[in-house]
Amino acid sequence: MRISDKAAARLKELGVELRQGVSLAEETSLGIGGTTDEILLRRYESIPEVMRLLADEHIPHRFLGGGTNVLIVDGELPWVVLHLPTAHPGMRVEGNAAYVDASADLGGMVTFCAKHDLGGMEGLIGVPGSVGGALRMNAGAYGTQIGPHVREVELYRAATGEIETLRGSDIRFDYRHTSFAPDDLMLRVKLELPSKPFKEIIAGIKVCNEKRRASQPLNQKSAGCIFKNPPGGSAGRMIDELGLKGHRVGDAMVSDRHANFFVNAGHASCSDMLKLIDDVRERVRGAYGVELENEVIVWRN
Ligand code: EPU
Repeated sequence: MRISDKAAARLKELGVELRQGVSLAEETSLGIGGTTDEILLRRYESIPEVMRLLADEHIPHRFLGGGTNVLIVDGELPWVVLHLPTAHPGMRVEGNAAYVDASADLGGMVTFCAKHDLGGMEGLIGVPGSVGGALRMNAGAYGTQIGPHVREVELYRAATGEIETLRGSDIRFDYRHTSFAPDDLMLRVKLELPSKPFKEIIAGIKVCNEKRRASQPLNQKSAGCIFKNPPGGSAGRMIDELGLKGHRVGDAMVSDRHANFFVNAGHASCSDMLKLIDDVRERVRGAYGVELENEVIVWRN
């Protein structure tokens, strides 16, 4: 979708940066996605006004975080994409509290806190993506989830059109699911983390990195796990047991390293990846009677 010159001029007055005709394939870890205009929200204070302008001009939009857990349709997209700038995100520590911008890289945040002797997040070290995306999905790995550490979240709420601060205790964090609305835009978070010596944290980080390297296809284009694990089960193990590693539709392929990672092994289209997801879901349903739920977020037209 292209923003008209008139709307672009008004948006620029609000301090946003416009990028025209951006290929989202280049902004997502799967390397899949169509083309649209992108709005970089440089000043948080102006977000409510930017959103009112988009509503007045009937410009549909979506928020893109780190782009590491999303599968986006191909072609010219019917909505513009909103982004927070990722360069120099704000991060500071005060006692056991860490205040971090949602656009910060999750791993960067974990190491920043480690340098201030704040731990508890070691398991999240290799999870790709932004802090905002991790909050929205309640990212987790190796027994750690971000949710229990959250004390406050500052966000733009589309429902009220305002920037608000929510207390951690008012947010529900479940397995890869939270009570945030789909159109809430995470801006900043306050975390409370346990004190731990830097050396101990680094040792924990090393263990998690090794486990991840041994079991996940880190050098291939993917969106991490495609399906959530069903209660008490493992999607990866079930897909593996069905002999589906290496199974492909076009260039969309079940990783031969971890069966719940689907990789773009070349120039996979969104429809290749969707067909592969449906095919694997159907085979798992047939063999185990289990309906796998997507973990990856799919943006269709
Ligand atoms: N397994 C297989 N074959 C495979 C993959 C896994 O047999 O191809 C078996 C493993 O041997 C193990 C079990 O399945 O016994 C579980 O595998 P793993 O330890 O790799 O964990 P997972 O349940 O597949 C979850 C998260 C990952 C996270 C890891 C480590 C989900 C959907 N996945 O994977 O998160 O990194 O644990 O904590 O919850 C993600 O969210 O995108 C993600 C990758």
